[in-house]
Amino acid sequence: MNATMINANQAYAQSLQRASQVNWKIEDIIGGNKRLDFSKRFMPEALARVNEISCLNEAEKLILNQIRGNSYLHLFGAVEEFIVPYVINHVKTTGLSEITATQALLHFAEEESKHIRLFRCFAEEYELGFGSRCDGIGPVPDIADAVLQHHPLGVVLVILYIEWMTQNHYLASVRDNFSESLDPQFCSLLRNHWLEEAQHATLDALMVEQLVRELEPTEVEAGVEDFFKLIEFLNGGFMIQVQLDLESLSRATGRTFTEAEKQEIQSIQERAYQWTFIGSGISHGKFVQTFNQFGAIAQARLTQVAEKYS
Ligand SMILES: [Fe+2]
Ligand SMILES: [Fe+2]
Repeated sequence: MNATMINANQAYAQSLQRASQVNWKIEDIIGGNKRLDFSKRFMPEALARVNEISCLNEAEKLILNQIRGNSYLHLFGAVEEFIVPYVINHVKTTGLSEITATQALLHFAEEESKHIRLFRCFAEEYELGFGSRCDGIGPVPDIADAVLQHHPLGVVLVILYIEWMTQNHYLASVRDNFSESLDPQFCSLLRNHWLEEAQHATLDALMVEQLVRELEPTEVEAGVEDFFKLIEFLNGGFMIQVQLDLESLSRATGRTFTEAEKQEIQSIQERAYQWTFIGSGISHGKFVQTFNQFGAIAQARLTQVAEKYS
């Protein structure tokens, strides 16, 4: 076993040990007397960006914020649905000779399955309390299949930025947020999700390392190219979600928006989605640090794309 593999092995062992210290249960976060409070906003303003929409009153801004909370559950559930099969496929390459890596990765997949259940439990709770229908993009299995058609390196880079992105979501919602009084269960979701994602980010970086070690340089280039393609693909989905949110908002408020009002909501929300689900991840320092190994041209392109989604 060479030095790189010994280091990787230690990192897998550490990740497993840290994961065992977190390990929350769904019922610690939602269910029983832990209900969503529909008098409060669910998403931090830094992500929801409803305050700057001039055509909505306070009550309507609250509703749009909650719609954004629901779409967060839907979209995160959707991305976890390609993370689980990706990690399970990757485990086949580690095998029983690298048993610590295998155990850490299986635990990772198990946690992501738990997250899917967590998001679904919140979505059920939301449906019971919100009062009208909210649609999400899909079908989710088709989105997951389309993502998994891409180069494994491209997919794992997307997974890596998603894990780091959850840290920004938690920081925006809970830790440094003294100005908003958000729904405690939603804050708890963002916080607890991040606690486990932190270990996943370490494991993703190790999967990236392993792939880069095994791939020919041209294959690495192809993987990075697919990463950028995947960002465009995901962005297309988020832009459709903005349209669905507008319809949900119209249903929930009973308002028919004029073209000018629709345009105002749409343009602000498009920026909000792009920052929440792309910019806040691909500009994260830790993600950039991993990405830098792909050279100056790829780095410059990442900076450019990050600015577009800032
Ligand atoms: Fe997750
Ligand atoms: Fe994760």
